[in-house]
Amino acid sequence: MHAQITGWGKYLPERVLTNKDLEKTVDTSDEWIETRTGIRERRIIADDEAASTMAVAAGRRALEVAGLSPQQLDMVIVATSSPDRIMPATAALVQNELGAEGAAAFDVNAACSGFIYALIIAYQFIAAGACENILVVASEAVSRSIDWEDRSTCVLFGDGAGAVVVQANGNATDMLSFVMGNDGSGADLLYIHHPCGLPTNTHNDKRYYMVMDGKNVFRFGVAALADVSRQVIDAAGLNISDIDLFIPHQANNRITQAAMKALGISSEKVFVNLDRYGNTSAASPAIALCEAVEQSRLKQGDMVVLVAFGAGLSWAATVLRWQPDAYS
Ligand code: COA
Repeated sequence: MHAQITGWGKYLPERVLTNKDLEKTVDTSDEWIETRTGIRERRIIADDEAASTMAVAAGRRALEVAGLSPQQLDMVIVATSSPDRIMPATAALVQNELGAEGAAAFDVNAACSGFIYALIIAYQFIAAGACENILVVASEAVSRSIDWEDRSTCVLFGDGAGAVVVQANGNATDMLSFVMGNDGSGADLLYIHHPCGLPTNTHNDKRYYMVMDGKNVFRFGVAALADVSRQVIDAAGLNISDIDLFIPHQANNRITQAAMKALGISSEKVFVNLDRYGNTSAASPAIALCEAVEQSRLKQGDMVVLVAFGAGLSWAATVLRWQPDAYS
C-alpha cells in the first residue's frame, strides 16, 4: 500500500524569549548568540502547557488540513524527549484529548531525529497494510529540562510542536527513501537524566537538566547532516541537484551552513526558521516542514529532504516528493 502526507500543522507557544531577555539572566549577549548560532528568539510554554497540549493543538490543525476526523485515526505516534510523564506515553494523552478512540498510541524518543523516525515508522505500518490513517506529532517542552543558569545550553533551545497526517493512498508514495541510525557510543555527549535511571538516594534536581558537550555535538552534527543527506538522496536514485528544498534540523546555522557547503547546496534551497524558534528538538523539522508549505516554499511535485541529528547520537533523513494534491 502506498502512503502520503495529506495534512500538516504546528503550534508555537505565545511567550517569546529573546536574546536580549537572556542577557538579563545569564552572562551572554544578543550578538554572541546570533553570530554563534543564528538564533534571535525562542518560544517558551506557559505553566499550564506541556508536550501533550502542544501536540494536540498541532495535531488538530493537521487533521483539519487532511479533512480527517480523529475517529478515523488508526495510530497516534508522538516523537518527544520531553514527555508529560514517563508512563503512559504522551501519545496516550494526545489520543484521548483528540478523541481518536481505540487508535494505537505510543511515543518515539530519538531526540531531535524523533520526528523523522516517527514518520518512517508510520509509512512502514501503512506499507504493511496494517494502518490507513496515522497522526505523527513531534512535540517538545525542552525548556522544562534546561538549566537556565547554563549559558552553553539555555540560549539554544525552545518549545513547540509540529504534526502531519499520513494516509494510505492507492496511487503513489511520497516517501522515496529513508535512512535512520544511531551511535550509542556518543550517548554521553548530550543527555537528560531521569529518576528511573538513578539510585533514589542520589536524586538531586540539577541532575535532571540537559548536559551537552557542545563542540563534539557540533562536529557530529555537521558530518551527520552532510553524510545522511548524501545517503538518502543516493537511495532515492537522485542527484543533489534534483532536490528543490532541504529542511535540516534547526540546531545551529553554522552547523547547517558547513554541511550544506560540503554538499554544494546554495542557501536559497535551505529552509531556516531557527532565528525565531531556536532548537525545538524533535519538533524542529516538523515545524519547518509546516512553515515551508505555509510560505509556498514547496510546490506540488517538489523533491524535499528532511534531515536531522541529535542525542543518541541519532540521525535520520527522508526524501519526499511533495504531492498532497495527488491523494485519492
Ligand atoms: N554566551 C556567551 N559566551 C558563551 C556562551 C553564551 N551563551 N556559551 C559559551 N560561551 C563562551 C564559552 O564559555 C567560551 O568562552 P572562553 O573562550 O572564554 O572559554 C566561548 O564562548 C567559546 O565557546 P565555544 O564552546 O568554543 O563556542 P562555540 O562556537 O563552539 O559555540 C555552541 C558553542 C554550543 C553554540 C556550539 O558548540 C554548538 O552549537 N554545538 C552544538 C549544539 C547543538 O546543536 N546541540 C543540539 C544538537 S541536536
